[in-house]
Order: sequence, then structure tokens, then C-alpha cells
Amino acid sequence: MKKSNKSEVGEAIDRVEGHLKVMGKATYASEFNVPNKVYGQAINSTIAKGEIISIDVSEAEKQKGVLKIITYKNAEKLKTLEGKLPEITTDSIAPVLQSNKVNYYGEYVGFVVAETFEQAQHAARLVKFKYKEDKNAIINFEKSKSQAFLPNEDSDYERGSIEKGLLQADKIVEQTYVTPIEHHHPMELHATIASWDNGGVLVYASQQIVDDAAISISATFQIPKKNVRVISSFVGGGFGSKLNLERHVILAVMASKMIGKPVQATVTRTQMFTNTGMRQKNEQTMKVGAKKDGTLTALYHDTLSHTSATQTYQEQCGLVTKMLYNTPNNKVLHRLISMNLQTPFSMRAPGEATGSFALESAMDEMAWQLKMDPIEFRIKNDTQKDLLEDRPFSSRLLTECLRIGADKFGWKNRKEQPRTNQNGNWLIGYGVSAASRNAPYQKTFAKVILDLKEDTVKATIQMDATDIGTGSYTIIAQTAAQYLDIPVEYVFVELGDSDFPVTPGSGGSWGAASYCNGVRAACESAITTLKNNRNINQDEEVSVADLLRRNQITTFEAEGMAEPSAEFEKYSIYSFGANFTEVWVDKDTGMYKIKRMVNVASAGKILNPKTAYGQIIGGLTMGAGMVIAEKTEVEPNFGNFITRSFADYHVPVNLDMANTDVIFLPEEDEIANKTGIKGVGELGITSVAASITNALFNATGKRMRELPVTPDKLM
Ligand code: MOS
Repeated sequence: MKKSNKSEVGEAIDRVEGHLKVMGKATYASEFNVPNKVYGQAINSTIAKGEIISIDVSEAEKQKGVLKIITYKNAEKLKTLEGKLPEITTDSIAPVLQSNKVNYYGEYVGFVVAETFEQAQHAARLVKFKYKEDKNAIINFEKSKSQAFLPNEDSDYERGSIEKGLLQADKIVEQTYVTPIEHHHPMELHATIASWDNGGVLVYASQQIVDDAAISISATFQIPKKNVRVISSFVGGGFGSKLNLERHVILAVMASKMIGKPVQATVTRTQMFTNTGMRQKNEQTMKVGAKKDGTLTALYHDTLSHTSATQTYQEQCGLVTKMLYNTPNNKVLHRLISMNLQTPFSMRAPGEATGSFALESAMDEMAWQLKMDPIEFRIKNDTQKDLLEDRPFSSRLLTECLRIGADKFGWKNRKEQPRTNQNGNWLIGYGVSAASRNAPYQKTFAKVILDLKEDTVKATIQMDATDIGTGSYTIIAQTAAQYLDIPVEYVFVELGDSDFPVTPGSGGSWGAASYCNGVRAACESAITTLKNNRNINQDEEVSVADLLRRNQITTFEAEGMAEPSAEFEKYSIYSFGANFTEVWVDKDTGMYKIKRMVNVASAGKILNPKTAYGQIIGGLTMGAGMVIAEKTEVEPNFGNFITRSFADYHVPVNLDMANTDVIFLPEEDEIANKTGIKGVGELGITSVAASITNALFNATGKRMRELPVTPDKLM
């Protein structure tokens, strides 16, 4: 690394795109000023299972401004899903309006295009569908358990012998933990503007992975990928809901092709419940076996969830149980019920957020049985080896996170016995939970364009990376500034265009590590080439400006690629953390508040403490939401969601998270990748739910095994 300047990696600089955002000048998908654009409104089914037997468009068609009404009768034939319940992926095809079959309540059954948004909405309400309803729709999770199936061969896992492990145990905890359907609900609605032109299409869309979005569109329409351009300059949050391409985009592309005009489609907040993914309900049964001294002898984790009637999605809730603690005997199972609900998909820290709730609750229950401090119990079973992959962790500071957090939080003031720490009417409880999240990194390309004007070098970085509110623009600019040794003000970052070099996009906590290594590679490639061209020794320190001058050029372009090395495969790479919560519960009403939280994270090099803090706080808030509010209710007779807006789907507010400390442990993990970056995107959420419910137990003596925890449950 070169000499430091104010903008180098690690500095808490303000977001480089911050001004654009607060001035409303950052352009989100539906805000692009595309001439002649018209508006599409999708129509949702009103049965959970059955067939459309007739469609009456006569009244809708007559309405002012209506240009086209698309249903299965006149929709273009698309590529359809093959095989029984194929797995949903980030680049899955998204066929829509391909038959008269209805598989869930809210599925798209039509699309109305009109001159204005209001005209499209109005006319969409006037299209009349008649259905033949199939009364055997599977909408009741409880009643359908006998139909559970094994999603695939990898769904089950065992090492050692769980039976033996449980026999060796002095104490056994066996409990079931339930988490409900939850929705992502990013602030920016899913939206798109699609312009079909001469066999190709330009799509502005709110997507986390533009390359996969382009693949999905090209595969669904069976056109070459090079004919599809996807632009996602700014994304107002995704949380997993924008990892894959949803069907409103396909509808807009289809409509644009049919009518020869650009078509905008914005998903409504209510449609965000039914058409853009969700986290499914999970029932997780844990068995924990331990010796009197706290040594774990067995960990068992069995997850029952649901998928849709058309595709498979299995949240890997058992993953944490396979790797977090030092247990020789470990068994993890996953089962699914195919239901007449939309296909679930990844929601923030899929697997860990829910799996850690079950595991870290059961660990707390075991510590209580053993009369051991829950922190000491975890530390006793800490390991530097990933027993799942049979290899060491590149670095693992879980014990440090627990110890430093305990100190900062004042854990020593915790009363062991519930209901003994009181303040007036309040019962006070302390809770702890461990956090872990895979920190992957994937092949990433980036381009750097250098421009010399007088004494100043300006650099433009281009890559198809996205900024989903995470701060990608900023950390990419900081990385380029560092490797080119120029001020960050002279770095211009252009993202979210599928014409730019390919990246893995923003998801799975791999964005920062992937993007910044790609940028590093591009900058290094530029400098290396400029030196080679003039036979300059690679070790010689020459400024980029001088390199351009010595090459007698004023502009230069280079591309770089970074990917994990072979060394990378020899280690398991995770971020770790610990969360500490103090809750106050009103004795008489069960009303409770999160009084304060301390969260410790070890996530490799922190590129920008300000944006990383935002990431962790966001995760903590969503984790708190799991406990205090979030739940999507299925109507038991019809299969529609009763929760249809923010009036009834509640999320935490600032006051819920008012006193939250976030500590990053200094950590240089050179194995994880050359820049030492691990992910922070999803780490935050993984520990929160159990930390809060463990605190609620410490306050009240009541175990909360079903989320969310409404006050009545504490009475
Ligand atoms: Mo994340 S659930 O991979 O956006």
C-alpha cells in the first residue's frame, strides 16, 4: 500500500454519492426520463389455487388511455420452468401469464398498459376474472406437515453420531423455535422501465445483481444476452428481494415489445407482499447435549419450512449449527412443504438470521440448565476449526467479541436469576448471542479510465456492481484512491450497468470484498502496464500522473480481474460477532423495550467505519424487527396475506434502536483476500433475535420460542 491520504481505505469519509441522494438527484429505476414511456399495472389473482375460466376486458378496454391488456390469452410464449419444483436461483427465469393456472393468491394474472399510471391502475381494477377454484389449496402449514419432502440430497447432514452424542450428555435441551413469514420491504419499491427495440431491450430496474438480471431476461425471452442491457444505478434497498428478477420486469419487457413503447411498471407496496419474495415460516427443532462441565456432546437441528407449488427454495437454517461450535456429533435436517403461496427467497442472512435464533436460544437454555454463564458456555465450545469443512477458519475472533462486548456492556451486573433485577414496575434482563456469517468473495471484473489534465489525474471506475444503500460507491472510490494514490475527490464511480465489467453484484455479504478486490486489480493492472510500457521497475514509486507523462499519453484504460486464490479454498472464511441486549419488561402489561444494545463485530478490514456502521445498524434493526414486530399473516381460509401494508406489517422505528453501540474489532485477515475484507452486510442481523429473547428470559423467566414476541406472550 502507498502513502496515506485523507481518503484512504479505512477512513470514515462521507458517502461520495450522499449529496445526490439527499438532493433527489440519484436516479432510481422508475425515475429515468425515458421519452414516450407509458405505464403498466399488474393484476393479482384472488384465489389460491385453480383456473381462470373467463376474462372480461370489455369495460377496461374502453377506458381513456388504455393501450393494451395482457393476459395468458395473448401473452408472448416464454420459456417455462421445467421439472418438478426446480430450485430458484438469482438468475432463474421468471415466466408469467403462460397459462390459466393459478398457484397462489396474488399471482399475476394480467397486465394493463395505459398512457398514465392512474389510468393503468383504474383500468386494471375493471378487468373481470372468473375462476374455477380448487378447494385443495395448501395454505395451512400446520395441517400439511405430513406432506413434507426432502428438497435435495444435500439437505441432510451428519457427522459423528447424534445418538451417541446425546447418550454421552448429562443434560439435554430439546425445543422447537418458530419464526413466521417475513417480508423484505426495502424503501424503494421494485420498479422497472423497459424499452424494447429491434430484438433487444434496455431495462432500468431495481436489481441487486445486474448480470443475473440480464441472464434472466434473456433466458425467459430466449434472446441473446448481448441484446439485453440492464441498468440499476441506484437501488433503494434490497435485502434479498432484488437478488433475482421478478415478474413485473418480464411483464414490462413483454408489453414494450407488443406496443412499441417504453413501459414502466412499479410494484405497489401491497404487491411487495405477494410478488417479490419473502422469508417463509420456519419450525426449527433443536436438540443440544452437554456434559456437566459445559462440553457440548451433540447438536441436532431440524428445520421444517415451505416452498411454493412451482419452485423450490430452502433456507439453510441448519448451516450455523454445522460450523459454529466444537461438536463432534452433529445432525442437520431440512424439510419442505409445497404450499400455494409465492416462492420464498433469500432474505437478509438467509439461514443464519433464523438458524442463529434457534441455535443461540437453545444454547442459552442449555447454559441455564448447566447453571453456567452463557458467555462462558459459548467460549468453552469455541473452535478455530470449521468441523463442517474440516479446515481452519481464516480468522475467528468470536471469543474476543464475547469478552470485549461483555466488558463494554457491563455483563458483570447481570443477575443470574430472572425477575431479580427490577426497577419499579420494570423487570430488567440481559441477553447475549453469538453472530456468524459466511464472508465469501467472488470473481469480479473492473475497469479504470485515467485522465491527466495539467497536474491532476482523474480516475473513472466502471463495473456492473450495485449500491443497494450499502455504500458501494464510496468504498469503491476509496479503494481506487488508495491504489492509485490520488484524492478520493478525483475518483468517479460508475456502477450498475450490464455493459460494464461483470461483478457478482450485491448479495450474500460478498459485495464489498468482491468489488474492492476487482478495483484493486484494475488499478494494479493500469500501473503495471504503464510501468512495463516504459521499462520502469515495478518497485519504483512513480505517481500515476508521472506514469502517464512518461508514457506520453493523457488517457489510459485498464481492466482487472480478481478471484479467490487456491489458498482461499484451504480456509473457511466467516465474519463473527456478539450481541448484548438489555430489555425492560413491564410486569403488568408485558410491554417491553430494548433499553440498549452492544454489538461487537470482527469482519476483517473495515473499509469505511461510517458505512459499515450503517450496515450493522441496519442488520440489528431487522433482527430487532424479528422479535418485536414482523410477521406476515396468511388468511387461513383463502390463502391471501392479511398484512398488506405498513399499517399492519410493523417494523422497528428509531426509538426501538435508540441506544445501540457498534464496535468493530481490528482484524487483518490476509487469507480472506488480498485486501483483508470480509462482509458486514448480513453479520448484524444474525445474533439479534436470540440476544433479545434471551434477555426477555433473564427478565421474566419466560422462554420466547415463537417470534414475534407480542406483549401477551410475556404475561
Ligand atoms: Mo442478501 S439476502 O444475499 O441480499
